[in-house]
Formats: sequence, C-alpha cells, structure tokens
Amino acid sequence: MSDDTSGPDVTEVDPLEFREVLGHFATGVTIVTTRDSDGNPHGLTANAFTSVSLDPPLVLVSVDKKAESHEHLGKSRFFCVNVLGEASEDLSNKFAKSGGDKFEGVSHSDRHTGAPVLDDAIAWVDCHLDQVYEGGDHTLFMGRVTGLHAKGGRPLLYYAGKYHRLSDSD
Ligand SMILES: Cc1cc2nc3c(=O)[nH]c(=O)nc-3n(C[C@H](O)[C@H](O)[C@H](O)COP(=O)(O)O)c2cc1C
Repeated sequence: MSDDTSGPDVTEVDPLEFREVLGHFATGVTIVTTRDSDGNPHGLTANAFTSVSLDPPLVLVSVDKKAESHEHLGKSRFFCVNVLGEASEDLSNKFAKSGGDKFEGVSHSDRHTGAPVLDDAIAWVDCHLDQVYEGGDHTLFMGRVTGLHAKGGRPLLYYAGKYHRLSDSD
C-alpha cells in the first residue's frame, strides 16, 4: 500500500494554454447589459454564456470579478443577454473595453427588467438575477428569464481568439 496521501497528480495548467485550448470551443458573442443605481446603462461583451434549464427558464453568464460591470450586475439583480449578429463586430469590440460611455450612439430600449435591450441584437434574453456562484476569478450569474425574443439574422461567432461568420453554405 502506498503511503502517498497527496491524492491524484494535479497538473499545473498554464494560463496561456488554457486560453488557447478553451478557445477551440466555438461560441456566439453577446453583450450583457444592466443598470447602476442611478439608472445609467452598463455592459460587457461576453461569450461565456449558456442556457441552463427550461423549467424554470434559467441562463448563466460568467463575469470576471475585475470587470466594471461585475459590481453593477450584482447590485441591480437584473441583466439582459443581447446576442450579436455578424455585422456587430465593432459593437463587440466597443463593449470589450472598460470605461467611457459605451452606449453613446447605441440604440436600445427597456423591456421587462429595465436592462438595456440593444436594437441591433439578433436575439435577447432578459433576466432577473436568480443565483450567484463563485467561479474562481469569475462570478457565475444565473438569471431567471422574464422575457425573450429572437429577431433572427446571422450570428457573430468567436473561435480561436477571432471573430467568424457562418459560411454561405450553412
Ligand atoms: C469575444 C469576447 C468575449 C468575452 N467574453 C467574456 C466573458 O464571457 N466574461 C467576461 O468577464 N469577459 C469577457 N470578455 C472581456 C470583457 O468584454 C472585457 O473585460 C470588458 O472590458 C469588460 O467591460 P467592463 O469592465 O466595462 O465591465 C470578452 C471579450 C471578448 C472580445
């Protein structure tokens, strides 16, 4: 019998390799929006988004604790996931930087929760915050869906650190 009580070997994971390997999981691109206590809109580009449950309807988004939007998402307790179309690469890049008025020149409206719904989104999912989970350097915000709509259109995709579009044959 082994006297090794350290358990199975845990391989050190290099952060760059982690990004590179996980980047091979192709995703869509969303902008997750909310408001601060003064009603000002906030949002960030996020692809760590997934549906969780149909009954009740739940979705999940993973947000970096260092993101400025992080605090607002936790305090407002509502958010809208805006799914971007293939023409919205500039919008994605705009919301992938902290600071400034990201919403300047970006048409949007309120629907169910008060989170901004972007006119250019090909689909949106409006949520009340249901649960918050610790996720290392990120926080997992699980939302209960209160309203949603798909306008349709071709999606913006993200794969291996670059934007992509569906090929014409799809
Ligand atoms: C394609 C793409 C996907 C991203 N996905 C996420 C994500 O899922 N979660 C996250 O916290 N940041 C993600 N980011 C980075 C944030 O958009 C970025 O940190 C942004 O500056 C945060 O804005 P804020 O500080 O104003 O909240 C992504 C960036 C890009 C370009």
